[in-house]
Amino acid sequence: MFSHLPTLGVGLGFREPFKSDLFLNRQQVDFLEIVAEHYLDAPVQKQQELELLASHFPIIPHAINLSLGSAEGLDTDYLRKLASLIKQLNPPWWSEHICFTKAGGVDIGHLSPLPYTKEAVEVLCRNIAEVRRWVDVPLILENITYMVTLPGAQMTEAQFLTEVVERSDCGLLLDVTNLHTNAMNYAYDVHDFLQQLPWERIVQLHFVGGHWHDGILIDSHSQSTPLEVWQLMDEVVGRASVKGIVLERDENLPPFAELTEELEKAREIGRSRGRWG
Ligand SMILES: [Fe+2]
Repeated sequence: MFSHLPTLGVGLGFREPFKSDLFLNRQQVDFLEIVAEHYLDAPVQKQQELELLASHFPIIPHAINLSLGSAEGLDTDYLRKLASLIKQLNPPWWSEHICFTKAGGVDIGHLSPLPYTKEAVEVLCRNIAEVRRWVDVPLILENITYMVTLPGAQMTEAQFLTEVVERSDCGLLLDVTNLHTNAMNYAYDVHDFLQQLPWERIVQLHFVGGHWHDGILIDSHSQSTPLEVWQLMDEVVGRASVKGIVLERDENLPPFAELTEELEKAREIGRSRGRWG
């Protein structure tokens, strides 16, 4: 189903502070993921940065503010700009989250969970159908972390994610750190969860480490990747035909060598599971 997509290998979520290190270690990074919003309405300098990155690396656009779960529909102005960026980059796929970030015209400022209801599935599918009128590049959807669960659920989170990607015919960007974080905070069995996912739709993974605060695991993208996440990655890569794995470090950036070490470890997992050479 997604088997025709190219294998990209291991990549980094691009962050400006490590730009020069990135070019000094070019051969250790197979591709980059960029936050799409950093390049919408961007000054010339950012546009040039993107051109430079794109001339050296395959680029996957990762959008965070399309708000696919908004019941009032999508912001067309925003969608037009996003579509034009994706067209410019011509990537093999692009990604967004299963969440909402805007409600009633107000920007919430973070990725908020949806209720696991049939109605929310309908809203997502309707919005994704609208997106497809603008963008014909395959879309993969990411699972988020959450600090609240909404009442009125008609299905489990895993069933909800599955229903959405199957109904909308999207791929899955499985963030194994998000999965681990939610499993810790809500004490559910990660293997039960994985069991319910449509494995054949998993195209890409995200990973990083978070930190503990008052007994809650915070999705801060600020630490090295913990053992449990490496184990999860190995399990998923062993079973799903993963095309790319991206390290998403945002905060508390370590020396670049620590990032490339983690990439090397992910590369080895993909290699040992026969996903790439
Ligand atoms: Fe992620």
